Amino acid sequence: HGRDQTSPFTEKYFPQTLDHFNFNSQGNRTFNQRYLITDRYWLKGHGPLFFYTGNEGDIWDFALNSGFITELAAQQGALVVFAEHRYYGKSLPFGLQSFNVPEVGLLTVEQALADYALLISALRGQLAATRCPVIVFGGSYGGMLSVYMRLRYPNMVAGALAASAPILSTAGLGDPSQFFRDVTDYERLAPRCKDAVRGAFHQLKELAENQDYRRIQEKLSLCKPPSSPEDIYQLNGLLRNAFTLMAMLDYPYSTHFMGNMPANPVKVACETMLRASGLLENLRDTAGIVYNSTGALGCFDLYSLYVQCADPTGCGLGSNSLAWDYQACTEINLCYDSNNETDMFPPMTFGETERNIYCSKRWAVLPRPRWLQTQFWGDALSAASNIIFSNGDLDPWANGGVRKSLSSSLIAVNIPGGAHHLDLRGSNDADPESVIKARKTEADLIAQWVKMERTRLRTPKQ
Ligand SMILES: *[C@@H]1O[C@H](CO)[C@@H](O)[C@H](O)[C@H]1NC(C)=O
Ligand SMILES: *[C@@H]1O[C@H](CO)[C@@H](O)[C@H](O)[C@H]1NC(C)=O
Ligand SMILES: *[C@@H]1O[C@H](CO)[C@@H](O)[C@H](O)[C@H]1NC(C)=O
Repeated sequence: HGRDQTSPFTEKYFPQTLDHFNFNSQGNRTFNQRYLITDRYWLKGHGPLFFYTGNEGDIWDFALNSGFITELAAQQGALVVFAEHRYYGKSLPFGLQSFNVPEVGLLTVEQALADYALLISALRGQLAATRCPVIVFGGSYGGMLSVYMRLRYPNMVAGALAASAPILSTAGLGDPSQFFRDVTDYERLAPRCKDAVRGAFHQLKELAENQDYRRIQEKLSLCKPPSSPEDIYQLNGLLRNAFTLMAMLDYPYSTHFMGNMPANPVKVACETMLRASGLLENLRDTAGIVYNSTGALGCFDLYSLYVQCADPTGCGLGSNSLAWDYQACTEINLCYDSNNETDMFPPMTFGETERNIYCSKRWAVLPRPRWLQTQFWGDALSAASNIIFSNGDLDPWANGGVRKSLSSSLIAVNIPGGAHHLDLRGSNDADPESVIKARKTEADLIAQWVKMERTRLRTPKQ
């Protein structure tokens, strides 16, 4: 992917402890953890450290799509670090062996948090910043990690901005039909849009029931005709995933974050679904907005464009998708179903049973669905402090997170017209007023926390 030449960041590596919790397994062995850093805006030795807790991908992708953090750093004189999550991007503890069993076993939320804590203390030491308050930032799973950093390491983290963090649903505290119900928000633009999508899936189902596989291939421009119910299931998953991505990434301008998206992709999808051609042709072209953004795709290859995994909302492709699949098989619950009743998609169940079968086969593990609730407080978060939970109402992840303030320092910020962590993105002329306001609220709270933390750090130790 393109490195932005104007990016202020320098790429560095930190010798990170391989296993924080078992002194025998790896001894003092380390791996190289990548991080990006800029002191361009920093009031040296005084300004705060803004630390992005990297999530499931290459850290450059987050750094280049979170311009709010550097804009805020410029206002508040902050040092900025984006840390890459272990097992993603170039931070592979065992190189290409990282995704073997048992090497993959050091991929846990707890290890990742300990990585960030050690990196923060090392950097504060190296840069003479021990009195600089630390604020953590993250989007999506990265936002969950920001919350957890504040819960686990309040000794070094003064506050967290958790943008679009589905902290409740991923801990198993939610309704399994919520996610795809909220993806179905395509009806917001026109009820006919949802009906067209449902109608297209219905036609596909009928052709499949008649085993008219040639016809399916032809209408949907598949590279090979499907030949089994498994192929049809895969096809439905691939198509549903296109709608999911467009709903999440429904930004008011075109983006290159998770693939290439036009401005307002949900609107573009609905216009495509409501064209005069047949419903299946429209469905194909709508999927093409996601999978054929370059216009270079001759046909849809069922098994290379989309990979089924333990996350029914999609794991992406490449080695990052392996790491995410493993996390979805261990600590992170992503049991979401579509049912064709509360949503517009074919019924596809992914519950505890399906997850157990898949995960034992794929990774030789059994998920522990209640662990996150135990370890990170579940929905009993009201005793925590200094966390912003921001969510956009276009985002299907929003209702898996905290939508109402829990106390005067646990603040829910709702962003009407906002997609997945829109607030973390840099300012743009097409931004709705709501996100401008949200960023202002966030900036004010963060400035307050920094001030409070300075007082705490100045208080003499007993
Ligand atoms: C790890 O331990 C070994 C043996 O005790 C020692 O020789 C080595 O220098 C240590 N490495 C690091 C990075 O501390
Ligand atoms: C991809 O887009 C190009 C350009 O619009 C089009 O000609 C082609 O048929 C599309 N491929 C598929 C598989 O729909
Ligand atoms: C969705 O439900 C309708 C009936 O309400 C049915 O006609 C249609 O075939 C179903 N679609 C799928 C894909 O199962």
